[in-house]
Amino acid sequence: MNKLVVFASGGGSNFRAILQSISEQRLSSRVVALVVNRQDCGAADIADNAGIPVLYFPNRFFGDDIPAAEELVTDLLQYDTDYLLLAGFLRKIPRQVLDAFPDQILNIHPALLPAFGGPGMYGMRVHAAVCKAGVTVSGATVHFVNAEYDRGAILLQRAVELTPGGETPATVKEKVLRVEHQLYPAAVQLLEQNRVVITEGRVTLWER
Ligand code: GRF
Repeated sequence: MNKLVVFASGGGSNFRAILQSISEQRLSSRVVALVVNRQDCGAADIADNAGIPVLYFPNRFFGDDIPAAEELVTDLLQYDTDYLLLAGFLRKIPRQVLDAFPDQILNIHPALLPAFGGPGMYGMRVHAAVCKAGVTVSGATVHFVNAEYDRGAILLQRAVELTPGGETPATVKEKVLRVEHQLYPAAVQLLEQNRVVITEGRVTLWER
């Protein structure tokens, strides 16, 4: 049974989708804590309702403050965590945390990386850029986290079709989120099945 710590800054619909997959016994993992950088976020309410501890680490823990980053690592290690899942977490993960959890941190991004990713590409900005580019597909990506924004090894992607000339950032967001809620639990399942190997920055999936 994998122990997960989820990181969130916002509404937490991906967090909720993972919890739902667990409660419906489609996943055997357990969420042992939620890390938030804002106390007033929807994800914290979801955790409270589910009886999951909420760990509040304000933004100073995600900057250049080395002792703060080390304190964060110490706290995370206490949970005996197998994987950290970023689910709408809007801060950069400090180097100390990356080093303490090598190949154990996942993120979900609301586009098909490497397109529409990188610094400053988060939330509605991604969907606005997708609309502006006039692409006819977007989608979601679950990837491992490394020191570069949105550049870690890609684990799973799923596309959604867009209607040429008929989308707004809000409609793209809605279509992509629907896929995200299936994709993140599917990624957690691959980890449970021990099928994921990362070699030279790319994922290989072992057959079952
Ligand atoms: C999602 O679109 C996710 O891809 C991105 O942030 C958003 C979080 O949404 N990283 P929610 O808080 O899970 O509803």
